[in-house]
Amino acid sequence: MIILGIETSCDDTSVALVQKNTKGFKILSNIVSSQIKIHAPYGGIVPNLAAREHLKNIEPCLKQALKEACLASRRTENSKIDLIAVTVGPGLIPSLLVGVNFAKALAYNWQKPIMNINHIEGHIYANWLNNSNSTLKFPILALVVSGGHTQLILMKKHGQYKLLGETRDDAVGEAFDKVAKLLGLGYPGGPIISQKAEKGNPKKFNLPRPMINRQNLYFSFSGLKTAVLYEVRKQDSKEINNQYINDMAASFQQAAIDVLINKTIKAAKKYNIKNIMLSGGVAANKELRNQMKQTIKKDLFNVNFQMPEIKLCTDNAAMICAVAFFKKKPISKQSCLHINADSNLKLFT
Ligand code: KG4
Ligand code: ZN
Repeated sequence: MIILGIETSCDDTSVALVQKNTKGFKILSNIVSSQIKIHAPYGGIVPNLAAREHLKNIEPCLKQALKEACLASRRTENSKIDLIAVTVGPGLIPSLLVGVNFAKALAYNWQKPIMNINHIEGHIYANWLNNSNSTLKFPILALVVSGGHTQLILMKKHGQYKLLGETRDDAVGEAFDKVAKLLGLGYPGGPIISQKAEKGNPKKFNLPRPMINRQNLYFSFSGLKTAVLYEVRKQDSKEINNQYINDMAASFQQAAIDVLINKTIKAAKKYNIKNIMLSGGVAANKELRNQMKQTIKKDLFNVNFQMPEIKLCTDNAAMICAVAFFKKKPISKQSCLHINADSNLKLFT
C-alpha cells in the first residue's frame, strides 16, 4: 500500500510518498520546502505570506515527490497510490486551506480516497516510521514539543489519546524562538539556541524551572523567557559578547530540558508506561534527546524510549502518511471530499 501525504499546517510545504509492506514502512520520498527566508525578517511566521508560499511551492513539491518515489521504487505512478492523507489542523488556517484544497483537487482528479489527519497525531506517529518500531507496546506516553504545542499524551491503543498535561502559556518551541529573538539570534530560535548552547555553560545563570515541584503534569515557559529578558536587561550591553550569549543559551536550554524530563518521568511512573515517545520540532534538540534517553535508562526500569530521526521531528508529510496507515475508518470516494481545515482541532475525547 502506498499513501501520498500533504502537510501545510505552518510554514513548511511538504509532500511525501510512503509505502507499507510486511517488513514495515519505506519512505519513498519526503519533500520539505522551507519558508524560513521569507519569515525570518519578521521574527515569526506571517500567516498570509505562508499561504502564498504554499500555493507557489506545493505543485513543485508534488512533482519532486513523485519523481523521487519513482526513482526509489522504479514503478510508482499515480495509479499505484492508494490514498491521499492531508493535515486538516491544528495550524494556521490560511496555510491549512492550501494543503486541504490541493489534496481535494488531487483526489477528485485522480479518483482517490482522501483522509483527514491531525498534525499532532502526525508528530507522534513519526515514531513508527522507524521499522523496528512496528510492534511497540502500549500504554505509550508521548511528549509532543513543538512551536505550537507542549503536551503529555497517554495512548492506550492506536488512535486513542488522553491529555495528561500541557503548557499553561507558551509552547516550549515558542520559548526557544522568543529567547533567540531577544538575544538577537534570528528565527527560528531552536536550532540556533542549541548550536550556541554547545559552547556555553548551562550553570552560568540560575534560571527558574517553572512548575517543576508541582505534582501535576502541566508546564509553563513564559516565566522562563521573562527571566532571560530580565537577566539580559541587567547586563551592560557592552558585555553581551559571544560567550555571554552561549552561556545564556545553554542555561535557558537546560532549564527547559529539566522541566520536560521531570514531568515526563512523573507521568511515566504514575501511568505505568511501557514506551515513552518524544516528538515535534523541539525533539530535534540534541541535548534533550541525549538527556531524556539517559534519564529514562537510569530512572525507569523496563521502559523503552523512542524518538524519530532528527529530520522527521520537524514538520514533514511522511509523518502524516504514517498516521493514515493506522486509521481504521472506512473510506468512500464519494464522501471523501467533505473535509475542512480547523485551526483548533483537538485529538482528545
Ligand atoms: O514541529 P515543528 O516543525 O512545527 C510546529 O508544529 O510548531 O516545530 C517547530 C519548532 C520551532 O519553535 C523551532 O524553534 C523548534 O521547533 N526547533 C527546535 C530545534 N529545531 C527546531 N527547538 C530546539 N532545538 C532544536 N534543535
Ligand atoms: Zn509541527
